[in-house]
Amino acid sequence: MLVALVLLFVLSALLLRIWGSPKAMERIPGSLGWPIVGESFSFISEFSSPAGIFSFMYKRQQKYGKVFKSYVLGRYTIFMTGREASKILLTGKDGLVSLNLFYTGKQVLGPTSLLQQTGEAHKRLRRLIADPLSVDGLKKYFPFINNLAIEVLDQWSGRKVLVLEEASTFTLKVIGNMIMSLEPAGEEQEKFRANFKIISSCFASLPFKIPGTAFYRGIKARDRMYAMLDSTIAHRRKGETFKQDFLESLLKKHSKETSEGEDDDKLTDAQLKDNILSLLVAGHDTTTAALTWLIKFLEENPVALEHLREEHLTIQRNREKGSSLTWSEVNNMPYTNKVINETLRRATILPWFSRKAAQDFDIDGYKIQNGWSVNLDVVSIHHDPEFFPNPQKFDPSRFSDPIKPFSFLGFGSGPRMCPGINLAKLEVSVFIHHLMCRYKWKPLEKDDSVQPTLVRMPKNKYPITVERL
Ligand code: HEM
Repeated sequence: MLVALVLLFVLSALLLRIWGSPKAMERIPGSLGWPIVGESFSFISEFSSPAGIFSFMYKRQQKYGKVFKSYVLGRYTIFMTGREASKILLTGKDGLVSLNLFYTGKQVLGPTSLLQQTGEAHKRLRRLIADPLSVDGLKKYFPFINNLAIEVLDQWSGRKVLVLEEASTFTLKVIGNMIMSLEPAGEEQEKFRANFKIISSCFASLPFKIPGTAFYRGIKARDRMYAMLDSTIAHRRKGETFKQDFLESLLKKHSKETSEGEDDDKLTDAQLKDNILSLLVAGHDTTTAALTWLIKFLEENPVALEHLREEHLTIQRNREKGSSLTWSEVNNMPYTNKVINETLRRATILPWFSRKAAQDFDIDGYKIQNGWSVNLDVVSIHHDPEFFPNPQKFDPSRFSDPIKPFSFLGFGSGPRMCPGINLAKLEVSVFIHHLMCRYKWKPLEKDDSVQPTLVRMPKNKYPITVERL
């Protein structure tokens, strides 16, 4: 024990001596914190506080300005904020920056994932998935989403409900059905759900691929998920089953069985699987969190709640008795849209966008070098009083006027803007319609802490009791 302590001391002293920013970073203001851990502890502890990384950012921005350096989560990182920075980082000329995934994310999602592509390869993949995720492409999934929302909410009456769990079940069933026509109940659904949960909880784990670790379990669950997809793809190719889903649209138009050949507009099976998993991972936690925050913010803001309820009750009143929500109604919910945007602004589900400089460039008078990690601090952008007066207030009406470009980044912007925006809005709008028309609810406890995960979610999963209107 003593030997270990002495060794630790010597090692720390050694690191203290050699600790310092890479030479070129010296001109950038900021502190790198402690040896080895840098500022990771304060970053993580503030990350889980109700204000999230806002307080971490705010303190440093007051001291150093809009661009500062830090060392968090094992990386030298330049944090930057403001509309100018977001314009440069998000729409900067091709190849200026690439996405900066952690090692675990890269390993799990696979090398051909959209999230790991840049330039032309990235554009090509975006083109291939654009059609099925467009408003028109989503129309055929509307009946499934509508029936599922009704079915989930049928179970809520008079019960204690963990909103986050319910939202997670709902969004996973929607995306499973949309991608590969998975039935909402049964053995396949259970396997899919179990594997997905293990995969999604391994992203923030340590990168040790040894039995017993979360990362190892994640890779194994990914392999089982890919085996499921292999078998579905094989059935489809043999013409044994035909479904009108996302997988079918990619198989029909864009797939080839091997990686050989010149045909650039086709996807191999490996590319198909990597990208289906990427859509699942990018689309599930985000939509689950959005739905949960929205329900929480509404309860805390009765004026917005009443306004929203009125929109939905009016839609219901104007409809023929006994009929259900229609496609044209769901596409005409102006206040709901503002509530979704305000939820994404206040919650800032993805608090920072992580990039890696792919070439040298200047920002706010500072030289950023190829290879550096650059994080855009979105929380501060979303709470800038110049563009969002009284920024802590939940006020959907602020989205009645046009919003200045690059000041609202709920779904991002530029070539990496969220391709799932229409699906996310559709799921949330349908669910909220039925919730508004049927129930009122009360939270069971007051706790504003947030889970220490990449996607911000209420730590207590937002427990409520539900009553019929
Ligand atoms: C309310 C729910 C959602 C929110 C708030 C959200 C937010 C975002 C944001 C902010 C980005 C850009 C990140 C960056 O620039 O670093 C993004 C990218 C992405 N989102 Fe979403 N998203 C949501 C739902 C979905 C859904 C349902 C899907 C899939 C069907 C999806 C798939 C993706 C993918 C694949 C990317 C990466 C795009 C690329 O790199 O080109 N998202 N999302």
